Amino acid sequence: MAVLVTGGAGYIGSHTAVALHDAGRQVVVLDDLSNSSPAAVDALRSLTRPDLPFVEADAADVDSVGRTLADHRVDEVVHFAAFKSVSGSISDPEGYHRNNVGCTAGVVAAMRAHGVSRLVFSSSCTVYGEPNHVPVTEASPIGATNPYGATKIACEELLAAEADVGGLDVLLLRYFNPVGSHPSGDLGEDPQGVPDNLVPYLMQVAVGRQERLAVFGGDYDTPDGSAIRDYLHVMDLAEGHVAALNALADGDGPTGCTAVNLGTGTGYSVLDVVAAASRVIGQPVPHEVVGRRAGDIERIWADPALAIDLLGWRATRSLDEMLVDHWRWQQRHPNGYEA
Ligand code: NAD
Ligand code: UD1
Repeated sequence: MAVLVTGGAGYIGSHTAVALHDAGRQVVVLDDLSNSSPAAVDALRSLTRPDLPFVEADAADVDSVGRTLADHRVDEVVHFAAFKSVSGSISDPEGYHRNNVGCTAGVVAAMRAHGVSRLVFSSSCTVYGEPNHVPVTEASPIGATNPYGATKIACEELLAAEADVGGLDVLLLRYFNPVGSHPSGDLGEDPQGVPDNLVPYLMQVAVGRQERLAVFGGDYDTPDGSAIRDYLHVMDLAEGHVAALNALADGDGPTGCTAVNLGTGTGYSVLDVVAAASRVIGQPVPHEVVGRRAGDIERIWADPALAIDLLGWRATRSLDEMLVDHWRWQQRHPNGYEA
């Protein structure tokens, strides 16, 4: 039997594919390469097996997904395939809805047709919007602050409704802020164009691809005035998916649809991250504090208790380890996979 990883050529999907392989599972990757590259698949194969099955297809295409489930005798699915840029979703809300909700609907329809019942879904802490209380638990209020977040809420609702009518057991993993890379330095985050996210941008400054980091907002109500997030190592996150699949496969495990936060439980400010990165890199990262970014929230971090209880998973790697590993990847691949 095998596990299908949709979006498995992307950042989190490729790291998870490695963790699943290392845990002894047969992995099949399906991706349309809309935000990744054949070189990422090569890197994934070099860390797993040279013949790791890869299907280039749209996850919204029920026939392609169904054929993949049948051809590879898949009995569990991890569904990452989605567009993830908040700014992209503001300029193209309809396209984001069509792709993100369409992929989830396509994957679920194919699973139903082929009698596959276990699904782990990539959700996000963005579903909590601007929380009125931190840390956030899975019972905290839900509300999107941008169209990308709205697609995650719509997917969660679709999956909960599917689980209600029976035949599907789902874990909705609400990730906080993944950073870092595989420790080999051969697999990493390779954003197309100018990065939106903090650590990829900061690392491109450090290798000279960008001039300086703009720190968005110095007037938040936080100790140093910059915004606070819960950063977690992508390998911890990848291992969280292995734990989630194991829990679903366990006869005493969760049934129906359950949301679980995957975070460390610790918040760091943007300026904390800049200081840690400067230390790890061995030179100051040029930066300046500018105005707030539209749509940003002030602070969020996870209450990770449910993941510990239900999945037996907790994040173990430190912020420095995240940055050391991300820096190794960036130095080995200053221009990403293709260069
Ligand atoms: P990514 O863009 O690197 O990976 C997503 C992959 O999905 C890409 O390889 C892309 O080509 C593929 N894809 C997109 N649409 C597809 C389609 N229609 N059919 C097939 N493949 C398709 O992004 P990532 O950072 O690895 O994120 C993975 C998932 O985790 C996404 O669902 C994202 O929303 C979610 N997530 C990411 C973060 C984060 O900070 N990176 C945080 C929370 C949740
Ligand atoms: C955002 C989304 C999240 C999504 C994630 C991955 C929200 C609230 N968050 O997370 O759902 O999953 O992107 O795409 O919708 N920063 C800078 N300078 C930069 C870049 C970022 O100061 O050049 C700051 C931001 O203002 C923020 C922090 O760094 O305070 C983290 O930003 P980022 O990495 O973009 O992640 P989020 O905004 O938390």
